[in-house]
Parts: sequence; C-alpha cells; structure tokens
Amino acid sequence: MLQKMRISGGARLVGTIDISGSKNLTLPAMMASLLTDHPLSLSNVPRLADVVSAIELLDYLGVNSSWSGDGSLVLRCNNLKTTEAPYDFVRKMRASVLALGPLVSRFGRASVSLPGGCAIGARGIDLHIKAMQQLGAEVTIENGYINASAPNGLVGCDINFPVSSVTGTENALMAAVLARGTSRILNAAMEPEVVEFANLLNVMGANITGHGTPIITIEGVESLHGASFEIMPDRIEAGTYAIATVATNGSVLLRGCVPDHLSSFLETLKSAGGVYDPVDDGILVYRRQDEIEPVSICTAQYPGYPTDLQAQYMTLMTIANGASSITENIFENRFMHAPELCRMGANITINGRTATVIGVPELSGAQVMATDLRASVSLVIAGLIAGGETVVNRLYHLDRGYENIEGKLNNCGADMERLKA
Ligand code: EPU
Repeated sequence: MLQKMRISGGARLVGTIDISGSKNLTLPAMMASLLTDHPLSLSNVPRLADVVSAIELLDYLGVNSSWSGDGSLVLRCNNLKTTEAPYDFVRKMRASVLALGPLVSRFGRASVSLPGGCAIGARGIDLHIKAMQQLGAEVTIENGYINASAPNGLVGCDINFPVSSVTGTENALMAAVLARGTSRILNAAMEPEVVEFANLLNVMGANITGHGTPIITIEGVESLHGASFEIMPDRIEAGTYAIATVATNGSVLLRGCVPDHLSSFLETLKSAGGVYDPVDDGILVYRRQDEIEPVSICTAQYPGYPTDLQAQYMTLMTIANGASSITENIFENRFMHAPELCRMGANITINGRTATVIGVPELSGAQVMATDLRASVSLVIAGLIAGGETVVNRLYHLDRGYENIEGKLNNCGADMERLKA
C-alpha cells in the first residue's frame, strides 16, 4: 500500500531516541549465513523493508529464517535450493549482490542479476566481479546476469580495489574466507560496518586481520561455523537524528550512538552550531547558539564525511546564516533532494558535484517527493523545521532504512502521521 507522511512543522525535538541496529551491517551479516550449514543468530536487527527484502532473497535461495523469542533473527543455510539471485530481488535492493561472494566461495557457483539503474548513480558492479575473478572464478555476463563459477574452489590472492567499495570489500571478504591460502584486500573500505562485518566473520571461524586499515589479510579456512552476534547501532540513523535535533533547536539523547563512528560528521555539526556531549549510553545533542553557521563539506570514504548524511546536512544548511557548499564525491547523482528542498523555499544551485546552499530565514511546508532513502529523510527534517504542513510522498524509500521513524520523532514532540497515498 502506497503511503505518505504528513508533518506539521515547528516543534522542537526534545527527549530520547533509541538508535536501531545498523542497516548496512545487518544486510551483509544476513548474507554471511550462506557461508555455513549452522545457524547464525543476529540480535538487534532493525525491522526495515530492506531486511524483509533480504529475508525474501535468502528464503528463495533456501536459507531458513525465523525470529526467536528474544527478537533475534536466526538464519540457517543447510539446504540450499539454488545459486541464482534473480532480477526481481536485486532490482528491489542493490545489496542483494552480497549473495555473490558467499555463493561462489561455498558452493562454487553463483548467478546474480546485474542491479541495473540506481537512483543515486551508476554504482557499477565491476569491482565485485573483478574480485571474484582475481580469486579464480570464471565470470561471464549473460542475459543480465553475472555468472560466476569456481568448481575447484577459490584461491587466495591480492585483490586490489582501484576505488574503495563498502559492499565490494564485504563480498571479497566472504569470498576469501573460504578460499585456499592467503588473500589480501588492498584499498579496502574502512567503514565501521566493514570492520564489524569482519569481526562477525571471525566469530564464525574466519581468520581475518587488518580490518579497519586499507589492507585486510584473510587466511582461508576449511569451513565456518554458526555464531550469535549483536548488530551495532546505526551510525547513519544516529547522525540523521542529530541533524534533526540541531535543525529544530531541540535537545535529544541519542541512546546507543557511538561517537567514534561519526567523528568527522560530529565535528562538522559542532562547527555548524551543534553540541554533542558524550554520555554513558550515547550522546546528548543540542544547539549551542541561535543561528546555524554555514559550514561546507565534501563527502568522502570513511573516516571522511559520510555520503549517507549529505542530504540531511543540506537541509540543515538551508536555514544557515550564510552560504555553504556541499560536494558529493561518492555518488554522481545524489542531489535529488535539492529541487524538492527548493520547492520548500530553499536556495540551492547545483553545479556538477557541488551544491551551493544560501541559507534562508525559514522553509515553508509543501508536497514533496522522496526519491531515495537519504533524500526522503532530508525532506522529513525539512518538514520538521518548515512553517505549515509538509507531505512527503513515496514513503517506501524511508521504510528501507528508518525503523519506526514517526514513533521515534513523535515521542520527542514531532507531529507526524502516516497516511494512505
Ligand atoms: N563503485 C564502482 N564499481 C563497483 C562498486 C562501486 O565503480 O563495483 C563505485 C560507486 O559507484 C561509488 C563508489 O564506488 O562511486 C563507492 O561505492 P560503494 O561500493 O562503497 O557503495 P556500496 O557498497 O554500493 C554502501 C552502502 C551505501 C553507502 C555506500 C558508501 C550498503 C548496503 N550500502 O554502498 O548505503 O552510501 O556504501 O558509503 O552498505 C544507504 O544506506 O543509503 C546507502 C546508499
């Protein structure tokens, strides 16, 4: 059922928000269940549309899933039905390509649909394919599918990423853990999700070192075993609510937020007039001063400013006390929120990869259209600070990555309501 969100602007967010488990750790962690016969139990899994999509793909492949009494997601792959991940799954959720590495390494073959167009940019899959080839898989592209085969198993090697890739590194890790001999991933992604994912694989019996640095070393092992693992809090969800708090001049305890995962973002937020006080169980965020300072950013791989917090930050800059520039270095088409923000009264001009935002005194509510996950939430934040009523259409994007967003924000004083579209 199509839904939209009505937001009445003007409320300050005050209270506590519990940060859910990380989406971008949960998705690869779920795919790691393909690497073993034994159950993998994941706790603190967020209830998100993308998690449902991943369960559906795994179910199609033959992985049994159930929610245990304590809320953990238990996955077991002891009866694989197929090594094909069809178009319908991959089209819906690009992270489905994470089935490639584990299927090839454990079962010697995989057929994964090419993801095709993606709203935020071309997002090639070439690096994933090259990693499989370097590990000895034969790869052909036919009828829109990547067909990889390694009947005699994969062989450890150096995998060199010309561009660091989060899911590319995760796919390479899953392929290399069961390969014969030693592999090294060079120019590996260093995002906290990748580090924690390598930790999960080690708990499952892998032998990985160097994660968190650009060179990860993997000693292949015969097999992996089951594990119980807790998904860490979602740093992007935390950063999103931190921006919403500063934008509304509120004061919110983000319970579970790990500030170390967000250093570059939090420093930026501080320069823009926010405050974050580390407390026992998270961070307390509020505004230091009346006005938001214009502070320019360039997105970058970790530990730089995260692309997944660019759209939300642009909303904050729309009400800053001057001009700032926002340069998007990771994805070439990730400014689709800008024209929608302009419809709400923002002053933004885009020139290639850089947006110039000139702060205005206030935004005004409007009907807007969400185009991807982070763009949608940037419009929700805009709705919170705008005068009058905002309606964000195409809400399904939001539900891919934000668990119970209206519950969490209404609990802090927002006035939001989900409506039938
Ligand atoms: N790239 C290639 N070829 C490839 C793979 C990537 O050219 O084979 C390029 C991309 O086009 C991009 C750059 O490499 O320019 C980095 O992309 P990356 O591969 O790191 O992105 P990803 O792994 O597809 C993950 C997150 C994204 C997040 C990016 C960057 C998951 C499931 N997704 O995507 O999350 O934006 O890393 O940090 O982990 C989101 O949550 O909203 C989201 C889009």
